[in-house]
Amino acid sequence: MKILVLNGPNLNLLGTREPSVYGSASLADIERDLQTAFPQVTFSFAQSNHEGELVDTLQRARVDGIVFNPAAYAHTSIALRDAIAAIPVPVVEVHISNVYARERFRHHSMTAAACVGLVAGLGTDGYRLAVDHLVRRSR
Ligand code: DQA
Repeated sequence: MKILVLNGPNLNLLGTREPSVYGSASLADIERDLQTAFPQVTFSFAQSNHEGELVDTLQRARVDGIVFNPAAYAHTSIALRDAIAAIPVPVVEVHISNVYARERFRHHSMTAAACVGLVAGLGTDGYRLAVDHLVRRSR
């Protein structure tokens, strides 16, 4: 099974970015942990700070499932929502922090309705739970 783990803007700074909100794991740590936890999965990993590049990556993905943390674009991007809706691949949205316990502007996700589901507030465990779901639903 092939899974793309895609991360949006500022998530390249995980580990040093607001550790009280996002924890101390870096993106590389998260990616390494996923590979260790799911040796049967062939992972590809991508991160971009640019909305159009995220759209391109979604359109080009030739995988069985996508775990996507759109970061701030979740709250604003119709283009990313449309890209998720346009592709035949199931996408699970992940937010490390509990966006519903934070500022009001984070309470709405433009992208979540086009996804099969959403994991939020469970820290970096959310990535593992999202992959686990994609593996199970593919069986
Ligand atoms: C985030 C939550 C977003 O509101 C924020 O803009 C991020 C990270 C999260 O993983 O908790 O950049 O997606």
